Amino acid sequence: MEPKIKTYFFDTHSFEKKHFCEANHDAIHEFTFFEGKLTEKSAILAKDYPCVCAFVNDHLDENVLKILAENGTKLIALRSAGYNHVNLAAARNLGLKVVRVPEYSPFSVAEHAVALILTLNRKIHKAYNRVREGNFSLEGLVGFDLHGKTVGVIGTGKIGKAFIRIMKGFGCHIVAFDKFPDQQFAKEMGFHYSDLEQVLISSEIISLHIPLSPDTRHMIDQKSLELMKRGVMLINTSRGALIDTMSLISALKLGHVGSAGLDVYEEEENYFFNDLSSQVLEDDVLVRLMTFPNVVLTSHQGFLTAEALSKIAQTTLFNMSQFEHHEPLTNEVVLV
Ligand code: NAI
Repeated sequence: MEPKIKTYFFDTHSFEKKHFCEANHDAIHEFTFFEGKLTEKSAILAKDYPCVCAFVNDHLDENVLKILAENGTKLIALRSAGYNHVNLAAARNLGLKVVRVPEYSPFSVAEHAVALILTLNRKIHKAYNRVREGNFSLEGLVGFDLHGKTVGVIGTGKIGKAFIRIMKGFGCHIVAFDKFPDQQFAKEMGFHYSDLEQVLISSEIISLHIPLSPDTRHMIDQKSLELMKRGVMLINTSRGALIDTMSLISALKLGHVGSAGLDVYEEEENYFFNDLSSQVLEDDVLVRLMTFPNVVLTSHQGFLTAEALSKIAQTTLFNMSQFEHHEPLTNEVVLV
């Protein structure tokens, strides 16, 4: 019998464990699940595990990768599409292969972006609390028709495209920006591409669907916020650091940004996915964001559908099997 590939999971959550155990129904892989994050301190736990499975808020910097490589790890299997949290140059130098799940359910994230839009626009977060307390007043709950509004989509990859299809269904006009425009898709869906500035100037709602990279960090800063229409709704389900949070807070205070729906936050790694309800939060910027009545924050849950979790588990196991059998790695992340 072939030896099983041993994998050490960091930052494991009960909602995903179930899907990994189901995908491994024939017990080909051997898993050890750890709830803590991958850090310089915890990396040693993966000693003698050829594969380490990491999540979005594990920090795979040079030091962490070095500890893993020195202790027998050969493969980093990311259970995410994004890989901005991995030092790819260091991984390459240490001989570590990195694989990811490039696509699981673009619908899960796109639909969450739409959930944020509908919540903010129709003030569902406020209405829910009011009605529970017997307050049936409608004061302050006025929204607007999405029909006929212009929605700016930044990034028209898999998620951006799924998002555009939904917003088209509402009768919105789409204007999009992407480094690599898909003109065929634009023709099919009846929208046009513009430069970033034009998208910012002309949209009532702006939704971000691009990866975080040195190019895109703080793409939404004070200057770009100033270009936006007064009262704009800004949606970010991609990565927190696409937005300069301090500039967003200033724009919210001035009323220039009308509302913001954020599934991600620049400094989320110490907070998101954890129950900190009985602790004092130390991040004043996060706490300030939480005080706005026109900001809805969710804790990086765009991917959180049963379909997406199942696909993440299946693809991760596929990635591990390819590595184990010395096959070319379909989903390898390579430094370009
Ligand atoms: P994708 O790779 O299919 O699409 C990304 C698009 O962004 C591409 O069309 C690309 O050309 C464009 N792009 C890249 N750099 C650009 C730049 N500098 N300027 C303009 N356009 C640029 O990725 P996908 O699957 O649509 O995911 C988008 C992002 O969503 C991911 O990178 C990730 O950060 C985020 N995400 C969030 C999740 C959540 O749970 N909230 C879950 C999964 C992904």
